[in-house]
Amino acid sequence: MYRAPVWFAAASVGAIGIMLLAGQSGAGDNKELQDTIDKVAAALQKGDMAGAKKQAEAVSKKIEELYEAMDLFKPRKKGGYGVGDKPGAINPDGIEQMLIKIGRDAPAKGTLNKDSAAYEKLGYRTAALGLIALARTPPTDMGKKTRKDWMAWSDDMVKIGLQFAAAAKAKGPADVKTAAAKLNNACNSCHTVFR
Ligand code: HEC
Repeated sequence: MYRAPVWFAAASVGAIGIMLLAGQSGAGDNKELQDTIDKVAAALQKGDMAGAKKQAEAVSKKIEELYEAMDLFKPRKKGGYGVGDKPGAINPDGIEQMLIKIGRDAPAKGTLNKDSAAYEKLGYRTAALGLIALARTPPTDMGKKTRKDWMAWSDDMVKIGLQFAAAAKAKGPADVKTAAAKLNNACNSCHTVFR
């Protein structure tokens, strides 16, 4: 009779080993999710809000927890999108860190001219992640955690993400800075209450 627990324990140790290995592969193992959310961003870039919303709802059902999507804001080395196509070419190489940096100090005109396309993509990706947050609106209010606030802050991410993309495309450092600062407010407001 005591064999079953021993077998069970051995199997558990094996499973934990596999989980650790999976964790170690780290950056890049969410490539499929990145690509799927990039399709939402591409729909937004084309001005197809209805299509983007539909796709975001489908993505929101595929992920188990919201952090899987939120992870994409982290530095590229930690499994996030990063900024631009080339790893490490733009500093910082993570959306969240970049928003904090340029929300404080506007990017130099020359930098924005050079990296305008990367910044624009950052804006559409942020808006796409906003649509996914929106699709994950909690089913009920819980004390101070209200659906109304959740939806307002998610909506800010979408709208201001699009404004950020437009400012990046127009190569306007001051407008990029304003949009980044507003985005940071939306992130922080929601995290303070919900995270
Ligand atoms: C509508 C609410 C909301 C908004 C807006 C929001 N977040 Fe989050 N975020 C969350 C919640 C909730 C979690 C925790 C998710 C979990 O643990 O499943 C989270 C977690 C995170 C994490 C950690 C992920 C991890 O692996 O633990 C990062 C990074 C993050 N958010 C970045 C951002 C950035 C950057 C913005 C703004 C551009 C933003 N978030 C806007 C709700 C929000």
